Amino acid sequence: MASASVICLAVLVSAATCELLTADQLAKAVPGHLELDPEFRKLHPSIPGPYEHVDPFIVGGVESTPHSRQYQVGIYTPVTTAGISFCGGTLINARTVVTAAHCVDLRVGNLSIFMGAHNMPPGGDLNIVARFAGDVVIHEGWNRSILLHDIALVRFEVAVPLSASIIPILLPRDASNDYLGNTTLVSGWGRASDSINTISPVLREVISWVISNYACRMAYLGIVQDSHICISGAHGRGTCNGDSGGPLVVNGVLIGVVSFGSAFGCEVGWPSAMARITSYLDWIRQNQAPA
Ligand SMILES: *[C@@H]1O[C@H](CO)[C@@H](O)[C@H](O)[C@H]1NC(C)=O
Ligand SMILES: *[C@@H]1O[C@H](CO)[C@@H](O)[C@H](O)[C@H]1NC(C)=O
Ligand SMILES: *[C@@H]1O[C@H](CO)[C@@H](O)[C@H](O)[C@H]1NC(C)=O
Repeated sequence: MASASVICLAVLVSAATCELLTADQLAKAVPGHLELDPEFRKLHPSIPGPYEHVDPFIVGGVESTPHSRQYQVGIYTPVTTAGISFCGGTLINARTVVTAAHCVDLRVGNLSIFMGAHNMPPGGDLNIVARFAGDVVIHEGWNRSILLHDIALVRFEVAVPLSASIIPILLPRDASNDYLGNTTLVSGWGRASDSINTISPVLREVISWVISNYACRMAYLGIVQDSHICISGAHGRGTCNGDSGGPLVVNGVLIGVVSFGSAFGCEVGWPSAMARITSYLDWIRQNQAPA
């Protein structure tokens, strides 16, 4: 890990950021994630358990080709004077990042957002652009206790310089598309397995597919609403702590924001749940910063 001063010179944009976020703090960031309370399952014993046939050799994906997911961003959120949590996010235009509400609702200071990165914490890569941002819009319906409307926008005063490593993603054109069965790509610096407690040093990604909300409700009874979208967790694929807020993508189009998984672990074969982008197209249009 580079020293704090190298990080500031090579990566961070403002002197204020250097005082607030040292390399050490970045390295110790806690992966953000929402999980269903295990108590919840005790109350609903009839809900099917985790799949039995989990392939132990697939721990949920592979390292991304560096700089191939140019819309992916990493977000550090100061949550108390002592702690920083880490989440993913997605660039949707040169001035707007979409992420999960639960990644930013407990913030006690501006967010540090890194774009064009492959390694996290960010090193001295010249592709990286960092922004220190406080203009956050959380969905007015966000409800932590029922994990509903878990979506937020972060807006930059000044547009991010787009490059071969930093390109916004497309939003869906057809709000009625449910993407059922479509092949999905989800990426993030989240924990690569249940046995690792820090974020991944490199961006990783996993291919899965959209399952029906009916099937997802079987796993998360009483939680999954129409404004959620879920992917299969078969073979232990899926999202883990630190992936929250990041992109669920079908054919180059953003269709979900990583929201929550099972408290039983990330590799147990349960679906991963997201905020369904097509439910929020109007809200995004109304609240994003103009590019
Ligand atoms: C924090 O964010 C706000 C709003 O985006 C901005 O005006 C302010 O300058 C930021 N603070 C620092 C120290 O950069
Ligand atoms: C969150 O949802 C619960 C359950 O529907 C409700 O009782 C509570 O009032 C909601 N909280 C907010 C802040 O809307
Ligand atoms: C999604 O799946 C449908 C039904 O199989 C298919 O017609 C459509 O082309 C797929 N879309 C994408 C973007 O893969």
